[in-house]
Amino acid sequence: MSDFTSDFWGYYVTVLTLVSIAACGVLLYVMGRMRVQRPAQKDSGQATDTTGHVWDEDLAEYNNPLPRWWMWLFYLTIVFSLVYLVLYPGLGKLPGVLGWTSSGAYASEVKEFDAKIQPLYAKYMAMDTKQVAADSQARAMGERLFLNHCAQCHGSDAGGAKGFPNLRDNDWLYGGEPGNIKESITNGRNGIMPPFGPVLGEQGVKNVAAYVRSLSGLPSDKLRAQLGKTLFDQTCAACHGLDAKGNQQIGAPNLTDAIWLYGGSEATIIETITRGRGTAGAVSRMPSHKADLDEGKIQLLTAYVWGLSNTKSVSQ
Ligand code: HEC
Ligand code: HEC
Repeated sequence: MSDFTSDFWGYYVTVLTLVSIAACGVLLYVMGRMRVQRPAQKDSGQATDTTGHVWDEDLAEYNNPLPRWWMWLFYLTIVFSLVYLVLYPGLGKLPGVLGWTSSGAYASEVKEFDAKIQPLYAKYMAMDTKQVAADSQARAMGERLFLNHCAQCHGSDAGGAKGFPNLRDNDWLYGGEPGNIKESITNGRNGIMPPFGPVLGEQGVKNVAAYVRSLSGLPSDKLRAQLGKTLFDQTCAACHGLDAKGNQQIGAPNLTDAIWLYGGSEATIIETITRGRGTAGAVSRMPSHKADLDEGKIQLLTAYVWGLSNTKSVSQ
């Protein structure tokens, strides 16, 4: 309850809570002071106070206060709530004297669990990543980590989506050795394809797109592809290579393998070249996982991802 945007709501909740509890107490007190009307009083000629409901002709309900022991239970719940609000967070911004927080409780549970499982991590840390990938228990742990931390972008089967690479096809932007994969996970990746629309002009983009399609054996205008090759060698080869096979240092994809990160249709390629891909912002699109995954988990994830496309080395 410490994340209100302004102090006002903290006080508002505090006042509302305390007033409600006090009102309950007052109500109980007033009700408790009501005089009990015994049925005997009826015989003494006094009118009996009933709720006014009558069943089965003469079954009436006395309007009597609650029994004492019942009242005391209610008083106890009020005392309990006050003690609770002193100990635990609940009154606006007050943290409670025990300092308990739900995220703290969660964190300590995770810590406890990690401590239990630490020896297992230590074992896998000491092993070669490829050996870890061959261990079915390690793979199962890696898969669970993957579903928790990676599936939202790469898909639960690691098959990827437009802009999110497929991790099981043995085609790598940044290299598929365990070291490369570990680096991708640990520090994140942010490949940037600059926009070339302004440099090449509409026709130039069309020509170079035709050339890019021809590299993967896709149908394209022969003349445009020829013109495009010259442009490619001048403008694109610096990153994608003269042979267009890409550069894993900077994550420039191989443009000859008919595997597409964004798509191989003419329109998509034209869009990629014209507007560029990726953002030069501080947040990389493949986020760094240094902060939320320790080395043991990264080792298991690396082994899992490596195993997805090296199925022969991994006894399934
Ligand atoms: C927020 C989305 C997102 C999350 C979460 C994410 N990734 Fe990625 N990942 C990407 C994107 C986008 C790329 C491509 C980056 C680029 O092209 O520069 C990528 C690239 C990679 C690569 C490099 C692929 C190659 O071809 O070289 C690996 C390996 C990888 N991710 C593994 C993981 C693992 C393991 C996790 C979970 C710990 C994960 N990713 C979580 C978005 C994500
Ligand atoms: C500064 C380096 C650089 C230059 C120059 C460059 N590219 Fe790229 N290109 C990249 C990177 C990095 C990516 C991957 C972007 C990502 O991961 O989101 C990319 C992606 C692409 C893609 C998407 C491939 C796919 O699988 O969907 C195409 C197509 C492409 N580039 C074509 C070109 C062409 C054509 C040129 C020349 C006009 C060019 N690039 C110039 C770095 C570059």
